[in-house]
Amino acid sequence: MRKWIQFCIRARLLKLSTCLRSSDGDKKHKDFVPSKSINSGEAESIRTFQPARRLKRIETPEMGEFFVLARQLPRCINLSLGESDFPVSKTALDAGWKATKEGKTYYETTNGLPELREALAEKAYRKYGTRYDPDSEVLITVGATEAIFIALLALLDPGDEVLISDPGFVAYEPCVALSEGVPVSIPLREENHFKPSVRDVTSLLTPESRVMLLNFPNNPTGSILSHEEAICLAKIAAERDMLVISDEVYEKIVYEGTKHECMAALPRMRERTLVVGSFSKTYAMTGLRVGYVYGPKELITPLWTLHQYLVACVDTIAQHIGLAALMGPQESVGKMVKEFSRRRILIHERLNKIEGIRCALPGGAFYAFPNIGSFDMSSEQFSKFLLKEAEVITVPGSMFGRLGEGCIRLSCTTAYLKLEEALDRIEKALKKLEHN
Ligand SMILES: Cc1ncc(COP(=O)(O)O)c(C=O)c1O
Repeated sequence: MRKWIQFCIRARLLKLSTCLRSSDGDKKHKDFVPSKSINSGEAESIRTFQPARRLKRIETPEMGEFFVLARQLPRCINLSLGESDFPVSKTALDAGWKATKEGKTYYETTNGLPELREALAEKAYRKYGTRYDPDSEVLITVGATEAIFIALLALLDPGDEVLISDPGFVAYEPCVALSEGVPVSIPLREENHFKPSVRDVTSLLTPESRVMLLNFPNNPTGSILSHEEAICLAKIAAERDMLVISDEVYEKIVYEGTKHECMAALPRMRERTLVVGSFSKTYAMTGLRVGYVYGPKELITPLWTLHQYLVACVDTIAQHIGLAALMGPQESVGKMVKEFSRRRILIHERLNKIEGIRCALPGGAFYAFPNIGSFDMSSEQFSKFLLKEAEVITVPGSMFGRLGEGCIRLSCTTAYLKLEEALDRIEKALKKLEHN
């Protein structure tokens, strides 16, 4: 409660200082002041409105036409989604009902429900041997999305370079650009099993290199790092005194023969690593928006400051649901991963039988990223073709970066029988095409 009152006072002060700054002639602010009264019916003044200049740093992907078309096709099978088709566990939902009935509908402590922070710190210790203070080193966020954005906003200075994978999760580049950083692409090449090569990474380093933003198991490629590969990246980060933001939202979605490596648990890494996690993927809770970030106090404190102004705190009921999911039986997670594994094997086997397609077996996450480069089409044209001819929705690889071109992304989050039908349709549609 005390923290919340302190936050309100700080927010009032911030508001006051913003007003003071704008009253001395800040140009941007003037643009927002209508020159004529809108009530008088003269609405032209709105023409002076321009989105903030920082938005010019990012591009909005042009996928509108694609999804309009998808909505018009009722037989469509959607293989584009980044979320599980399994339900949230009953134990977790019951905890949500209970919290609602008990009236837990008020602001929670800004850095998150204490029991949830304690449970996450305990999990980090039990699973990876890394110790974190739940009060100052764990922050509950609005999904991993918020954690990644505030980490970049809080830690980058203008011009700082951030290494991000290409192809990579769509939010990274815009978040770096909006934080005034410079995104630098680490190629994830198919011939290297979609993993970064040490040679590529070292060749990209400059005196401005400040952050390595890693994501394994990887979206969109399904690749996962071995212990040795993770150690190599950690060594580079430590030698060049770089921070690592390790997006580990798929840590529990790993398949037979692979093991997730937590970057913070590697030698010399705890002090320079922020680990980002989420309840979205593991517990099929994408709509409840609960994520988290943990790391050393010096790195977490600035994120917490931003988080207070941005969202105040995360939805209290959703945090209770997350806590129950984390503390409750984990069998349903195991079952879900087993089923995803069956589906990824189906996709892998079926696509590799189609002439012109090459598909690596994903080691983690729930995506396959087949190469369609031998067809004489861009990935966007190819996805559109599959949509029109097979009524199957996939995501063009180009959406994930320049090096995603030549591939498409398919999710394993559709029921097995439907997936089989989608693959039948893809196979049939592609018979009409020529390939090199
Ligand atoms: C790699 C990666 N990081 C972060 C996120 C966002 O997760 P959340 O729902 O927790 O914001 C996603 C969602 O697709 C993702 O694939």
